[in-house]
Amino acid sequence: MDKDITDNAQLHDELENTSSNNSGNKPFKDVLSASLSRRKVVAGGVGLAATSFLAPSALAGSWSWDDKWSWDRYRRRGRRRGELVGFNPVKITDVVDTTMPTISSDYEYQVLIPWGTPIEPGITNEYRGDPNSRPTSQEAALQTGLGHDGMWFFPADMKENQRWGNYYNHKRCDVGMLCINHEYGTNPHALGKSAPESLEDVRLSQNIHGVSVVKIKCNRRGEWEVAKSVHARRITVNTPVAFSGPAADSELLQNPNGNIALGTVNNCGSGSTPWGTYLTCEENFNGYFGASEGLVATEEQQRYGFSDNGFGYGWYKFDKRFDLSDSDYANEQHRFGWIVEIDPFDGTQKPVKRTALGRFKHEAIAIAESSNGRIAAYMGDDQRFDYCYKYVSNKSWQAAIHQDESPLDDGKLYVARFNDNGTGEWLELTIDNPVLAARFKSQAEVMIFARIAADLLGATPMDRPEWTTIGKDGEVYWTLTNNSKRTETNAANPQAPNYDGHIIRTLDSGDHLGNTFEWEIYLLSTDTHGTEQTISSPDAAWADDAGRLFIGTDGGQKDGLQDQLQVFDTTKGTPEGKRLLVGVESDEITGFTVTPDQRTAFVNIQHPGNGNPSKTNFPAYYDGVTIPRDCTLVIRRKDGGIIGS
Ligand code: FEO
Ligand code: CA
Ligand code: CA
Ligand code: CA
Repeated sequence: MDKDITDNAQLHDELENTSSNNSGNKPFKDVLSASLSRRKVVAGGVGLAATSFLAPSALAGSWSWDDKWSWDRYRRRGRRRGELVGFNPVKITDVVDTTMPTISSDYEYQVLIPWGTPIEPGITNEYRGDPNSRPTSQEAALQTGLGHDGMWFFPADMKENQRWGNYYNHKRCDVGMLCINHEYGTNPHALGKSAPESLEDVRLSQNIHGVSVVKIKCNRRGEWEVAKSVHARRITVNTPVAFSGPAADSELLQNPNGNIALGTVNNCGSGSTPWGTYLTCEENFNGYFGASEGLVATEEQQRYGFSDNGFGYGWYKFDKRFDLSDSDYANEQHRFGWIVEIDPFDGTQKPVKRTALGRFKHEAIAIAESSNGRIAAYMGDDQRFDYCYKYVSNKSWQAAIHQDESPLDDGKLYVARFNDNGTGEWLELTIDNPVLAARFKSQAEVMIFARIAADLLGATPMDRPEWTTIGKDGEVYWTLTNNSKRTETNAANPQAPNYDGHIIRTLDSGDHLGNTFEWEIYLLSTDTHGTEQTISSPDAAWADDAGRLFIGTDGGQKDGLQDQLQVFDTTKGTPEGKRLLVGVESDEITGFTVTPDQRTAFVNIQHPGNGNPSKTNFPAYYDGVTIPRDCTLVIRRKDGGIIGS
């Protein structure tokens, strides 16, 4: 079982990351030195708070929360030490037990909604990690799933003014809806076997994927818990969905047998809108399809990575929707790879797939508002040698909402070309461009095959664009997690191979509405190696309005570290990360959201131990047998201060 689990996880990783870009878009040549002169090198190993401390492994499921006294003390003292990122970081030597997380001595955590938690109290059984059983598919449909990833907290008082309010005008910090993605769970983890043997097995696998919408609240003891709500729901690959935007009525989204549009899958990163909705991003959707009669891939299928057996989930063997050989479902494959909008305050709303944002392996989305109310959405396509995108709405979001339109339906989609001199262009994906008109019949096709359109426009192949987030001054941070297959460098991707990743920041020329941008490398992971700030494979990202940048990592940490959460002060000249949290063996730290007062944060421990109970049993203490479960950590400063301070 051990071997199966490990192999399955590694297979997933390998297949997830394989490039399918054969477009031949040329990297800019011979510009490594230009980049090296631009980049800001991290000072090695000095300057951090040097006091030694023992970072506590806080008890799972319980707070050691200070009392009200500490809140009052905090209010009197103002920001601790006057530093934006002032907490005592977790040092490498502080990490002594990788079966449990290690958090900064200034912080504490509580476990919330581990896999198998009923989405409303008492609505179904809870799964607690019994190695001899798994939930039934019906139970799983009412429980939180696996693969906790992107998420967003929507304070309860957004509901009344949801359509008109600004997120930070809403004050409730003790109760709200949490939307959370369940990206994936391997068959050994979810099913206890390497492949499904029945439709019931497939339904269980399907139901541990998707999105959970749960009401959470902080009780009188200061503990967060799940509460009852008419808005609570699970959204899975079998939930009815709607399509909107330029491709909504395309025949490429209709199947010969006329089945209705169902579901979302491999929901990776996330975003939220100024009008109070949740955005979930469909990433490695190709991995759930297979071909019972073998696949002779079309150019489009090749570019989106479809194959005979996908990532080994085996759904296609029992559920024909996912069988690429079944002509009745010829276009099912085009129904995935979208950004999906979910109303956290309406459990009856059909999730809407916004086709104006293009079809690719959507990692995450960050929305910026320009001064005239138009929005720009920054999005990465996570595959080796794939691209960075921007969508711009044609109207202000308020005007669109007033007219009962979606700001995500009417707009322009662009892909990024990074020049070696620190400038870049946003290239529009439009059928009005003769280059695209020669290849596609309609704007709908351009959106459905956005990757191919971007190839034709000459976009810059990147080192796996993961999350995006908007910084304090409107700059956009892009995590480029790694690319072990890069052989030629360019200024924006200056390492070949790039085993450890980097972070780029861009500044749009026109208040997020421009056709050009400036860019620089914010962090090269390798610059941190051998220092206390060591970090690799940056992935999840969230920035606050004060200049703090939170980075979660996905694999490959150096110096024996597990995946981690670091906080950067982007107002400083050099990016000196401070380590707030270290996860458990073979997990990933991902997803990040805060309450409006920024005094409570939520972050996810994804696939602890890769599901292997000999590595960790988190959130249970180590016993070697209890199945580890993906979960959310609620994080607070012990003195009630701002998260990251
Ligand atoms: Fe699901 Fe690219 O991470
Ligand atoms: Ca990711
Ligand atoms: Ca990743
Ligand atoms: Ca991952």
